[in-house]
Amino acid sequence: MKKTARAHTNIALIKYWGKKNAELRLPLMSSLSMTLDAFYSETSLETGQQNEFYLNNQKQSDQSAQRVFQYLHKLQDSFGLPYDALKVSSINHVPTAAGLASSSSAFAALAASFCAYYDLDVDRKMLSRLARIGSGSASRSIYGGFAIWQKGHDDKSSYAYPLDEKPAMDLHLLAVELDQKPKKLSSTKGMQAAQNSPFFQPWLARNDAELNDMIAAIKNNDFTKLGSLAELNANEMHAINLTAQPEFTYFEPNTIKAIKLVEELRQQGIECYYTIDAGPNVKILTPLKNIKEIKKLFLSEFSNVKIINASFGPGVSILD
Ligand code: PMV
Repeated sequence: MKKTARAHTNIALIKYWGKKNAELRLPLMSSLSMTLDAFYSETSLETGQQNEFYLNNQKQSDQSAQRVFQYLHKLQDSFGLPYDALKVSSINHVPTAAGLASSSSAFAALAASFCAYYDLDVDRKMLSRLARIGSGSASRSIYGGFAIWQKGHDDKSSYAYPLDEKPAMDLHLLAVELDQKPKKLSSTKGMQAAQNSPFFQPWLARNDAELNDMIAAIKNNDFTKLGSLAELNANEMHAINLTAQPEFTYFEPNTIKAIKLVEELRQQGIECYYTIDAGPNVKILTPLKNIKEIKKLFLSEFSNVKIINASFGPGVSILD
């Protein structure tokens, strides 16, 4: 038997950047994201002779398969299932050029293929909780459009739900790849390191207000508000990294240059905003009409830049 699921990546507009419980991946804050059409993972689960993990058709070493099988064992435990040998094959349609982490789509697809393989009767709320245990951001990739991961206080209450799966907003994301090097610090390590910043607690205290403002911006179809709030929230996350002890940053010189270009475009009346995750690459939020101008400027300012255009993507689906 073989079951395949597809899930799309998402970009957080209000970021998750801190864990209350590392084992269960319970977050310290609620987050809100946009699911992206251009980037997705397809994961198949089938009966195997032994546990095997193939990524993009390449068999992975035991070490890199470890996170996958530790996760699957947790799921098997929670449903009282035996540790059957499984062959997991995943294809990531998330080009490194996107500068987007694939863990959100990867664990959402893995959780969904697991439930399909064992024919488990789970609703999307439960599926979101299961995906969360693999990677926090994966909880939001269960849904299309805009999704909110409510932080909750325990395993049962921490899950994502859809805010608007078919948004009317004219919103596009340009993934600007400035740097192909693997990130210096994983998101797990970065989140840990950030927590002793003197600004971490004040940031947490703002989470409810920022989330509510973002929800209002989405409900009012207000791109200006959405973009400026997303940019502020990303800058807060990176300011926390810069003020942690010891301090660190994901920014590279080209990240700052890209930020300045976005500001320059805005001054010229070409409205766009940036958001940045745990890496040096920049994602630009823009209405459709500005894409051409933005691309033109970035292609002329950076010699090796790759730019991929995305918009709203769908939630998780079972393919066979
Ligand atoms: O779920 P993780 O461990 O990939 O962490 C995601 C962290 C950010 O991408 C920076 C923010 C987010 O909410 O997606």
